Amino acid sequence: MVNYPLLLKEIEKEIQPLFSKGKVANYIPALSKVDPKQFSMTIQLFDGTSYGVGNQNKAFSIQSISKVFTFTLALKHYGKELYQRVNHEPSGNPFNSLVQLEYENGIPRNPFINAGAIVTTDSLTSIHKDSTFEHILNFIKKTSNDESIVYDNEIFHSEMANGYRNMALINMIKSFNNIHNPIDDVIKTYFKQCSIMMNTQQLAQSMLFLANHGINPLTNEVIITESQAKRINSLMLTCGHYDASGDFAYKVGLPGKSGVGGGIVAVVPQKMAICVYSPQLNSQGNSLIGTKALELFTTKTGLSIF
Ligand code: DON
Repeated sequence: MVNYPLLLKEIEKEIQPLFSKGKVANYIPALSKVDPKQFSMTIQLFDGTSYGVGNQNKAFSIQSISKVFTFTLALKHYGKELYQRVNHEPSGNPFNSLVQLEYENGIPRNPFINAGAIVTTDSLTSIHKDSTFEHILNFIKKTSNDESIVYDNEIFHSEMANGYRNMALINMIKSFNNIHNPIDDVIKTYFKQCSIMMNTQQLAQSMLFLANHGINPLTNEVIITESQAKRINSLMLTCGHYDASGDFAYKVGLPGKSGVGGGIVAVVPQKMAICVYSPQLNSQGNSLIGTKALELFTTKTGLSIF
């Protein structure tokens, strides 16, 4: 039996020399204001027990981690039909890259790069219209078993004011007829979902269904089918860290999803979900210390999928 409290303390100690090696995201001005020297980590087990280190109550902007929730909702509704609009291959490119999209006729490589998430958000907008964001937020509240989750209005407006690349992406995709709703509505929902604030405890709980064949083990609620849970985990493994997905799989060996807010969520099938937060990023936009902490976790416990 692993002594999780001790393990987490060891990890916290071992990551200390890495502070100052990364950089907080600054292309969204509101994100650049966070204290760079933060580290928290939560391990959430199926029986409701959790273990943590650092300030696990500190909420941060989930950013691209939101793409897991919107993909889950879109896959649940559209099934395989969704793959006509967004592929399921790694991109090998940065999260906000435009180049591939033109070669590939406006079909994003996968739902975890910005282009792909914008398409899944558009697909949800076709169903829920004006209440799409509320629908996404309610789903996140349900999977986290927490009604208190909100989005940050300042971060939302900061992204709206500075999201030039995302505007370029959505316009390019629209030119290939792969956006079916008004651009303004879709991009607003996309930026709002990125601005949702959660802490490591809430995020670790929210992903438990992916570790348990699509069923939330804390409530026994069926969130998605076993087969869909398999697909989402596969895509997290192959695409969850953009052009660093291979490196994350190599070092950590777990399905995971990062966000430029500094969070990473990882899934240990049939066992647990883990969330780590540390806002200094590596050059590919993933938490530098978060990646190291997860690498230490799987190395020390042997709990990887390989
Ligand atoms: O759209 C963006 O650029 C951000 N709202 C989200 C990007 C992101 O989190 C990439 N993750 N590492």
